[in-house]
Order: sequence, then structure tokens, then C-alpha cells
Amino acid sequence: YRSIRVGLLGAGSVGSQVARLLLEHSDELTQRIGARLELVGIAVRDPDARRDADLPRDLFTTDAESLILGSDIVIELMGGLEPARTLVLAAIASGADVVTGNKALLATHGPELFAAAQQVGAQLSYEAAVGGAIPIIRPLRDSLAGDRIDRILGIVNGTTNFILDRMDTTGASLEDALATATELGYAEADPTADIGGYDAAQKAAILASLAFHTSVPVDAVHREGITGVTAAQVESAQRAGFVVKLLAICERLVDDETGEEGVSARVYPALVPRSHPLAAVHGANNAVFVEAAAAGPLMFYGAGAGGVQTASAVLGDLVAIARRHVIGGPGTAESTHAELPALDIGKITTRY
Ligand code: HSE
Repeated sequence: YRSIRVGLLGAGSVGSQVARLLLEHSDELTQRIGARLELVGIAVRDPDARRDADLPRDLFTTDAESLILGSDIVIELMGGLEPARTLVLAAIASGADVVTGNKALLATHGPELFAAAQQVGAQLSYEAAVGGAIPIIRPLRDSLAGDRIDRILGIVNGTTNFILDRMDTTGASLEDALATATELGYAEADPTADIGGYDAAQKAAILASLAFHTSVPVDAVHREGITGVTAAQVESAQRAGFVVKLLAICERLVDDETGEEGVSARVYPALVPRSHPLAAVHGANNAVFVEAAAAGPLMFYGAGAGGVQTASAVLGDLVAIARRHVIGGPGTAESTHAELPALDIGKITTRY
């Protein structure tokens, strides 16, 4: 098998799991792709920092620029705007394809990065940027590309959903629910981005841009966090048959008089009727409810955060890109089924 060189930028909770899975499942992935994904290095600030996975020390480097130049595919999981933006642009300029899970980067510099990728024909994939493990980017970009999306209602922040769910089920105050979220490792040491709605607003910008084939900058997303939500409000919502959820709402708007079209993206604590499927999203889970003209309502649900869960989405993007490097490999057309021998149906059928 030929090698496809993969350079990883960042080894935080998601990055270290991506590296571990790449190393542990190397043979299986090679079969699936028809080429070997060779993890050539992991660029980090501090090679001696504690990691969530036990990784070979010799993979670590502090020289991200050189790693990029020696990579066919670059995975950016550093988070934050800089140096992530500069490094992603450098990767694209060097002819590499890029996988990123960096929602802040995409919500802020998306148009610049996509234009750079388009100019050189590079792939820029970001399934992990919204909804952790949940496949939502590709369904919006590809599966629903022939439909017209009218509205998206998303629970896209696990920490705030955990907090609001706990307030709803136990009557806890926001402070106590946040303390539990921190104890269980859901909330960051500084949970401002979560409870202030900033994380959800970045995700709303990404979803609205994709769904409505436009560019919605994060500054254009109306944002309210959950800091003002009280136990009394949650309780009175409950009595009226509602549950309070932090929703990212992306809508296509049409002016009745002029027929002019526009897009609205907003994040705020909303009252969701108990009968709506989003009301049943508990704990730190995420869900994205999509209303499309022809497809009707669709719901994408699952783990919205977590290192290994989000790593699944990163690896999916990586495999998809790698398959495009292998003309005629197992990823092309019907041959995706070629990796496992056909089973003799008689051997697996249980008769009653
Ligand atoms: N802090 C985020 C959340 C992590 O709670 O959903 C995933 O983006």
C-alpha cells in the first residue's frame, strides 16, 4: 500500500484520541481506504504535557510549519483563531487537504479559508465542528443539497443542555447545576463560552451558512446565553408543558410584501413544548432538527462533545479525503463493500 502522510496539529482531548485511533486501527483503515494513513507527527506547544491517550513520544514536535510541509493531509485540532488560521492557510498553500474541528475558526474566518481551498482545489472538511460525533455537516452539505432547508433548530451545546436538563429534572439552581457539570467534566474550567452562548453562536453561524448556501458571520448571530435562567422560570415552564432549552435557530425568511429572502440565526433559551422531539434530548447530548421542504422534518441526535466521540467525526473526514487520493480504491463507487468477505446468510440467520 502507498502511504498518505497525516500531520496532526493539537493533542487535546479530541486530538489525542484521533492519534490513538489512527495508530490502533491502522490496518483496518488501510484496508478500508486502499492506502496507509501514516501519522507523521503531532505538533503541540508542550510535548511533555499530560495527554488523554498514551502516544509515542517521538511523534511530538513543536515545529508545526515543518510538519505541515511533510503532510498530505493536515488535521487541525488546536482550537482558537491563531495560530490555527495561519497554519490552516499554510497547509492549503502547501497543497495539503485539511480536516478541522475548529468552530471558532470557521465561524470567524470561514470565507477566507474556503476561498483559499477552492483556489487550489484542496479539501477542507469540518464534520467535528458542530455536534461532536453527530453527522450533520455532510448531511446539510451533500445529502440535502438538492432540497430547500427552511429551518434548523439545534441543541448544539452539551454543557448548557446538561445544566438546563438538570434544572428541569431536579429543580436545581443554575449555580448548582453548573457545579455538577464542572464536577463531571462537561463544563470547562472557564465555562463562559458555553453558558454565554458563544459556542452555540459559532455553531449556528456554521449551520446557517451551510443550510442557506451563504456566509453568516458569527457577529450576525443574535446571542443570549443561559445565565439569566432561574429555577423558578424552569419550574413555571414545566407547569405550562414546556422545557427550557438553549436553541440555535437558523431560519430562511421571506418578506411577505417584497418577496425578498433573508436568513436569521439566533441563539437563546427557548420554551420547547414537551411533545417536540428536542424536549427529549437529555444530559450533555446534542440534536439538530432540520425542516426541509421535500424531506420534511429530520432529527440528528447523539453525543455532542467528548474526545473520543468527536474523534469519530474527524476520522470520518480523514477517511473520506484519503479515499479521494486513491483512484479506484475501495472508496470508489460500489467497491466500498469490497473490504469484508460476503457472509453465507445461512450461517447468521436465527430460526425461531
Ligand atoms: N463545550 C462544548 C459543549 C464542546 O459543551 O458542547 C463541544 O463543542
